[in-house]
Amino acid sequence: CSGLEIRRPALGFNTWNAFYRDINETLVQQQANLMVSLGLRDVGFEYLVLDDCWAEKERPADGRLVGNKRTFPSGMKAMGEYIKGRGLKFGIYSDAGSLTCAKYPGSLGYEKEDADTFASWGVDYLKYDNCHARRDYWILDRYAAMRDALNATGRPIVYSLCQWGVMEAHLWGPKMGHSWRTTEDIRPTWDSVLKTLDYNVGLSRFAGSDVGWLDLDMLYVGNDTGLRLGEQRAHFALWSLYKSPLMIGHDLRDFPKQSLSILLSKEVIAVNQDDLGVPGDLIWRQGHKRIYAGPLAGGARAVVLANFQFAHPTAFQQCPRTNITVFWGQIGLQPGQRARVRDLYEERDLGEFVDSFTGSVEAHNVLALRVTPLNGPLDDG
Ligand code: GLA
Repeated sequence: CSGLEIRRPALGFNTWNAFYRDINETLVQQQANLMVSLGLRDVGFEYLVLDDCWAEKERPADGRLVGNKRTFPSGMKAMGEYIKGRGLKFGIYSDAGSLTCAKYPGSLGYEKEDADTFASWGVDYLKYDNCHARRDYWILDRYAAMRDALNATGRPIVYSLCQWGVMEAHLWGPKMGHSWRTTEDIRPTWDSVLKTLDYNVGLSRFAGSDVGWLDLDMLYVGNDTGLRLGEQRAHFALWSLYKSPLMIGHDLRDFPKQSLSILLSKEVIAVNQDDLGVPGDLIWRQGHKRIYAGPLAGGARAVVLANFQFAHPTAFQQCPRTNITVFWGQIGLQPGQRARVRDLYEERDLGEFVDSFTGSVEAHNVLALRVTPLNGPLDDG
């Protein structure tokens, strides 16, 4: 197993969904400063991860990776120091093949050198991709080689597996890294969010604080050309419930205010970071109505009531609503039990309910709830 224990999914910002290949030192510095000034660091977003395209195109003759001299003129160690100087942690990207997905040098055959280089730069997090892999090297060996090289550095480095080409990663990811990608790349569309959710149904039992986390891919919260606000709320609440790493993926210089308030929703984040460390999952579905739920420390339950009703885009103005009822029996509480229900985005108690709770949910939106039993055998006292 990976040497570093992380009891909670990693929270941070990753450059890919926001900037794709076009990254540079100044841009990363700006994002680091904004993570602090927008209050994101203070609610837990701590890793700033440089995705693909940070390196020189060719690996230098001595084998040691270097930052791209044009776009990162101060070098990667200085980049990391800048990030850490803001109270954040430094993440970087490489690949278990000969090239990264964007055709920069990969780490296959250079695992030890690259792990040592990353450690010498003070790297805290490595996202490890699976492009340009040689099929004659078994994937588990390729991923284990980097895991062992990272462990050998003695530096605690989160090992984030991005093996999107191999879909049964829940069977081997838990023994390998801190999180493993379960799907291909997310796109900034509602369809892609739904596809990702559907793919992950049933997988949460393979993850948890003792083995690692399902990675549903990076967030598109903030991208309001691709996702409506309600869709962004659903995206964030459900990624939180599945206890996926939460990696912001939209330019912080241009972040819509209402989307920012989604990211700053402390009580939703608290579900993701809960001490019990048990991911939730889909527990009920009927047509467009869904209930996702999971246990929390102390006997409470996280519950997300989701309305995925198709609505013609022009009808969105009217925000068609539907009632969804969660029964205590569905979430492992006693029928007849009294429980307090709290709206996590609104940070407001909705009251005490016996047996069940019915919420009215807008189309392409969710109600994110915490249900706390108040008496009976699951009393959290
Ligand atoms: C793959 C990954 C993405 C991103 C790109 C970078 O597609 O799945 O998350 O890292 O590579 O090239």
